[in-house]
Amino acid sequence: MAMQTFYLTTPLYYPNARPHVGSAYTTIVCDVLARYKRMCGYDVAFLTGTDEHGEKLERAAAAAGKSPSEFVAEQRKLFVGLWRKLGIQYDYFVYTDQPEHVTSVQRMLQLARKNEPGVVEKRRYEGRYCIYDERYVSDSTDPVNCDICGRPAELISEENYFFKLSAFEDRLLKLYRRHLDDPANYPVPFVQPDFRLNEVASLVKGGLRDISISRKRIKWGVPWPDDPEQVFYVWYDALIGYMTGIGYAQGEQGSLTFRKYWRNTGGGPNEPPGEFVHMIGKDILRQHAVYWPAFLMAAGLPLPKTVFAHGYINYEQDKMSKSKGNVVYPEPIVDALDSFGAPGVDALDSFGAPGNDALRYYLLREAPFGQDMSFSYEGLIQRYNSDLANGLGNLASRLLTMIEQHCRGVLHPVSPDQRDHRDQRIGKITEETFKQTLNHYDQLEFSRALEAIWSLSGEVDKYLVETKPWAVVKVPGSYDRFLTTVSTAYEALAWVVRLAHPVLPHSTERIWRQMGQTDKLGSLSFDNWLPYGAISLGRPKPIFPRLDKNATLAKLHELAEIDRERDKPKEASKAVESETVAPGLSPAESKAPEATSAQQAATGGQASPERSERDARAPRSLEPPVASAEKITIDDFAKVEMRVGEVLAAEPIPGAKKLLKLQVDIGTEVRQVCAGIAEYYKPEDLVGMKVVIVANLAPRKLRGVESNGMILAASVGNGDKPVLVTFKEDVPKGARLK
Ligand code: MSP
Repeated sequence: MAMQTFYLTTPLYYPNARPHVGSAYTTIVCDVLARYKRMCGYDVAFLTGTDEHGEKLERAAAAAGKSPSEFVAEQRKLFVGLWRKLGIQYDYFVYTDQPEHVTSVQRMLQLARKNEPGVVEKRRYEGRYCIYDERYVSDSTDPVNCDICGRPAELISEENYFFKLSAFEDRLLKLYRRHLDDPANYPVPFVQPDFRLNEVASLVKGGLRDISISRKRIKWGVPWPDDPEQVFYVWYDALIGYMTGIGYAQGEQGSLTFRKYWRNTGGGPNEPPGEFVHMIGKDILRQHAVYWPAFLMAAGLPLPKTVFAHGYINYEQDKMSKSKGNVVYPEPIVDALDSFGAPGVDALDSFGAPGNDALRYYLLREAPFGQDMSFSYEGLIQRYNSDLANGLGNLASRLLTMIEQHCRGVLHPVSPDQRDHRDQRIGKITEETFKQTLNHYDQLEFSRALEAIWSLSGEVDKYLVETKPWAVVKVPGSYDRFLTTVSTAYEALAWVVRLAHPVLPHSTERIWRQMGQTDKLGSLSFDNWLPYGAISLGRPKPIFPRLDKNATLAKLHELAEIDRERDKPKEASKAVESETVAPGLSPAESKAPEATSAQQAATGGQASPERSERDARAPRSLEPPVASAEKITIDDFAKVEMRVGEVLAAEPIPGAKKLLKLQVDIGTEVRQVCAGIAEYYKPEDLVGMKVVIVANLAPRKLRGVESNGMILAASVGNGDKPVLVTFKEDVPKGARLK
């Protein structure tokens, strides 16, 4: 019998930066869902990948001194590596620089043109565009900042190809309606959660403007089939990656895989309709719930069954951002928690250590899926200790130790007539929990699914406390009673472990082995209740050792810091190379030990050589031609990391009458910086002052003293008196100036 298909995608990530816990979140959630669906007996295809075209990637590659193709190929490995580390079981990985993707994108366009003549036409576009978020910010030419990143949007004017999105308003509204009115054929709304559907519907009702789907000024993209001057707009290109990844470009109708999961024609006439979910973050809802179905309708291709937009992971209530220095990366978390893992666990190490599962559990349990969540290390440790170490881990180890000790590790099933009302009650709760949990998973209510499973685990714990099998076993003639109790608890635990498996794939697999089971847990379908004959157990080993809060916090911070440092050298070594002789300054000046910070800033300091070198190979700008020698792009400016610092200590440097050595706290660390301000500022007056520091300058030595950054000052009057930049209002240390 043909199995029902389930096609699931993560967004295709921009590989210009390495993945953080926010990007890992979508992938982890999809991995949980894919594992769950496999256990429900679905034929699952789970796709992830990278979105490698567009201005942002082109620039990032140029900044790294690489060709775009080389650059994305390297960056892509960071994603593949992290998914491996997190044990993500994806089936397909697509990257939009792969050759067959060109066929897919061009084919889609040709289909749309044939199917719906006039749907794509050439027009002039003028407007404001944010190159960082790859989005139009305004259709007016007035200056405006991007409402996502806050940076000034650039003015663009070009001839390009437009997709007539305005012609799809009614069809899109009908689509959203149809899913609500016809649950037999469309069991889930087209957009989830509900409040996101309302958002999208009112956006469409408010009127849709046609969108430009090609670019003239960008070279790094899929070529337009009949216009060599244009490439496809990155979003049109990227969305089609969902089809390329399963073989849309192969043959006339796509590969067998494509036909099976997308067209859903593979399994024969009686096959139930397949499921097909795009999982995304809330920030890319418009592209997935409005543009994408319109592109597909124009080409006459089947649509996804649902688009689920989840919330954001914030760091301690604050939006994660590189410039704030509060981006959380998964690798150090996994490594830190693993370092406290149970010693020499067993031969099952290939399943991964508990750090990985703890992170997955925390991300899914902490907030209702769909809402934003606030990430904190304390929260992670707390959840681990209360739910994993004290909860499931403790229950499993208590029960299995008892069975090992008193049954010589061998357990036989107990017949129903031996069970009393307390045993039966646990059986009933187990059944109810099973139904509830599946229902929650089906509705993508992951936190509620876990709540239900843990409530069963709590009930089993209570049951053991009440029935006290460890005491019963010592009473002569009560051995059968003891056996019934531990078998009942064993069966309930088996369900806890099976139901939790999609979220905790590695540790549940270990518990499963300790329970004497030999089948792979992940390959067991939920419909078969595992009949257990004589089960033989070894001595259980701890799965989730309790974490000491302070030691774990220290380790988490330490590894995060090492991780940050590892990321740095590339930037630093580039800066050092360019620093040796700074063009624009004579060699003597550039090495002058006592050049004031004001002078350095005024002359462009160490930034100038890099800039001129970069401009020579920079991709064409989006702006109308300007005298590039005098102007820098926002991208150049963004390279200078200026932060607020507080002076903790200041002292003169012997033999250097202009220099002071300062210790400056920039929030994440204390920097030693030399500044040529000794003639105008007394060291004691500086302590406590908030100053501005250029934080990403390569370290250098001034009079033998290492200087790690540069303090900004205005250069005033003939004597170039430095006047330090400071703030009227109270600003937090580490805040970035932009
Ligand atoms: N390339 C596009 C997607 C194209 S899909 C055909 C893109 N890439 S992205 O790398 O910027 O973002 C990928 C996903 O990561 C988005 O779903 C986004 O919502 C998600 N997240 C990025 N930061 C996040 C958090 N802090 N928290 C949760 N998800 C976040 O957009």
